[in-house]
Order: sequence, then structure tokens, then C-alpha cells
Amino acid sequence: MTTNHLRKVPAIPDLTRRQFLAAGTAALAGTVVEPNLRELLAAEGSSPGEAPDIDPGFVGPQFFDKQEEQALLEVLEQGSPFRYWGPGRPVKVQRFEESFARYMRARFALGVTSGTAALDCAVAALGIGPGDEVIVPAYTWWSDYTCVVHAGALPVFADVDRTLNLDSKDFERKITPRTKAVIAVHLLGGPCDMGPVMEIARKRSVAVVEDCAQCVGGSYRGRKLGSIGDVGIYSFQINKMITSGEGGALVTSDPALYERAARFHDMGTIRQFFLDRIGGPSRVPTFAGENFRMSELTGAVLGAQLSKLDSMVAQLRRSAGAIYEGIQSLPGIRLRQRPDPQGDIGYSVFFELKDRVARDRCIDELRKRKVPASALSGSVLLPIEESVIHKRARHPNWPSFNSLEGKAIQYGPECCRQTLGVYDRFVQIRVGARYTQRIDDYIIQAIREVPGTIG
Ligand SMILES: Cc1ncc(COP(=O)(O)O)c(C=O)c1O
Repeated sequence: MTTNHLRKVPAIPDLTRRQFLAAGTAALAGTVVEPNLRELLAAEGSSPGEAPDIDPGFVGPQFFDKQEEQALLEVLEQGSPFRYWGPGRPVKVQRFEESFARYMRARFALGVTSGTAALDCAVAALGIGPGDEVIVPAYTWWSDYTCVVHAGALPVFADVDRTLNLDSKDFERKITPRTKAVIAVHLLGGPCDMGPVMEIARKRSVAVVEDCAQCVGGSYRGRKLGSIGDVGIYSFQINKMITSGEGGALVTSDPALYERAARFHDMGTIRQFFLDRIGGPSRVPTFAGENFRMSELTGAVLGAQLSKLDSMVAQLRRSAGAIYEGIQSLPGIRLRQRPDPQGDIGYSVFFELKDRVARDRCIDELRKRKVPASALSGSVLLPIEESVIHKRARHPNWPSFNSLEGKAIQYGPECCRQTLGVYDRFVQIRVGARYTQRIDDYIIQAIREVPGTIG
């Protein structure tokens, strides 16, 4: 088994950070940029046509090593891939749950098969169903919408703002007497502004699900994401931070919510193991559930990956922080609004241009320089998706969409104008956990050369 997936990083000529920033300051002051991108590349023996490979890759797999290999071998050698019984001593998922809850500073964690499954469990735990409304950001991943639809409740969209996360004012505007919960998504590596969200939610008796799928390891004002609302969920799919290919988890500090989530993930049953964990008899009658149980193979990989999460975050943060610092006062761009920059995991760097035309030209120019630039990625403008506009569930008589409120609700561009505008203006630059200072500097220099020329 090959365990070393660490990528080779490209060489860019040596400059101290001080020299580099001095060059940038000179550029901003209108003096000669010294050295510029062409010179950086020439000194490296490349021309701009042969820019270095700065593919950020996938974070988790870059950290696979003997630890994952050993943990997987233990499961295979014992013949114990099922978490609840079988040969040997299956404890990988149990141990992962215990460490994950400790890491997230929540009382309980539940390992499941995906982030989508974790959202379904969260919605089931909160007892959300027919007649309820759940507020969901207009730009996020499908699962935040489908978990509400599948529960028989009605998704109501709120706009995102320049944080690229829920606009708390629009969240408040969208609350009705039927609103049971809000899904506060920490999108694209940056924490949602949880202060106002929690204040509004508590005042209006709205439950809070934190979706941390894209921000595993992030925090907000010193609190780990997922531990602030009533329930937090995570994804371990390959494009996230720690990964087992697929996988998910839920955390909560409420024993009744935990029991409902544990029941839902296991056909409505509850094993003694969970009752021991919550320290008491069952608080919840059985109900129809699903099978979202995590396998020991997944638990083995995640246990090893979790011990590296802090280093993954530290490396991404270092590069993202340097890039943000290097471009912060550039004219013509506005950086992503970050309610707590220290809690950002540095998955990408974001800045805003005046309109879509400028954004697209900027992306083209950055790509010509081999900088991994794109429009916002990894999520969907849900209200303008065809199946959403037509309120299409898996059966045409889906009760929530055929209720009075369901018939009245209008999806489509009119319900998310602000989000569409934000989406059109933002540029995303991916950050890699193995970027060196030289790569950070190369990206900074490329950004300095480009946006100003396209305005
Ligand atoms: C914000 C968000 N929530 C939930 C999920 C679902 O996670 P999974 O792919 O593990 O089902 C994703 C996955 O991309 C996501 O980005």
C-alpha cells in the first residue's frame, strides 16, 4: 500500500517575506514592482507559459501515512468491520466518536455514513416534520435542502451576504410561526456569524443546526463549530478536511437529541451502548429510522485523521493568512467579510470585484498564471435549480409541497437576488495544505498584477 501521497511543491525563487511585501508596497505606491511574476518565474528557469504547478489537491489524503494504514490493518486482521459486534473487539468508531466529541467540545458524537446522513439525523433528532419550516441559506450544498424535503417539512431560503454565509437579517425576516429550525452553514472554510444568528434563534425559539461540512476544525470566538447550536454536523467526503472517502458525524450536548439521532441512524432502535453513554434509561420511544451506521474501516481512518486535523488547519491558515495579508489593501477588490478570521480554516481565499464581467476576466487572467482561481465552488444556488423551482420531490403528491404554504411559496431568482449578486462578484482561490511561502508569494504577486488591470 502506498501511504505517502505528499505532493512535491514547485520551486519559486527565494525572497524573504519582508522583501516580497516591500515589493508589493512599492507596487501599491505606484513605483516599479520588483520583482514581478515574470521575474519570479524567470529566476526559477520558467517562463510565464510554464508557471509552476500549484494544484492544492485534497487535504485529508495528503496526510495519509502509517497511522491510517495501521488502524485499517487492525480491523482487517481482527475481521471486525462492523461496529456493534463480530469477531475481535470493534472499537474504532466508538473511539473516534469519543475523541471527536472531545475535540469539538460537545458531550456526544455520532459517526454516520455521510454528512447528508448526519443532516437527516439532525432533522429527525429535532422532530422536524410536516407543517414545519426550516430556513436554509440560498447558496449551500443540496443536502441542507433535501434533509428538510425528506422530513416532510418546507425549506425557506434566506440570502447569504459578503460573509458568504447566512445573512442574519434575512434569516430574521424569513421567520414565521411555523419556523422550527435554521441551518447555519459554515461555508467554504469560514464560520457563519453565529452571534446574531444565535441571538435571533433563541429569541424566536428556533432550533439551530450548524452544518460544518465545509469547515471541519473551524471555530467562532473560541468555540468549535458545531458546538454552538443545538446540533452540529460534519462531512468526511474527500473534498473536506479529514477524510475517509465518505463519512459523517453529528454532535450535540443534549441527551434527548442524541438518543433520537442515534435511533434514527439505526432503524429506530437504541443499543445499550448509547444508553450507557447518555447515562440513563431511554428518554424517547422507538420510531421509523434508517441505516446510517459507520463501519469500523471508516472509523479506523477517521481516528487517525483526527489526530492530524490541527496540523491540517494550521497549514491552510498559514497560507491563507499570508495571502489575505498580501492582498488586503489592493485597490478594486474587497476581501470576504470574515466575522472571526482566527476561526477560518483557510480552505480558500476570497475577494469580490465590481461585477461578473470583471470577476470572469480576473479568473481567466489568474488561470493563465496557473493560479487555482474560480467562481465560488462546491455548492449550489439552490432556489434557481430546476427541481427546486418546480418543487419536485420523489413523488408528485409530496405533502409539504402540496400544503397551502407549500403551494404559496415561490422559489426562483426573486427569492435570492442578494445571493445571486454575491455569487457573481466573488473570486475563490484554493489554498493547499502543502503550499510553501514561495507559493503564497507567487499567488499574491499574481493577484496584485491582475485585478487592477481589468477594472
Ligand atoms: C455544506 C455541506 N453540507 C453537507 C454536505 C453533505 O456531505 P456528504 O457529501 O458527506 O453527504 C456537503 C457535502 O459537500 C456540504 O458541502
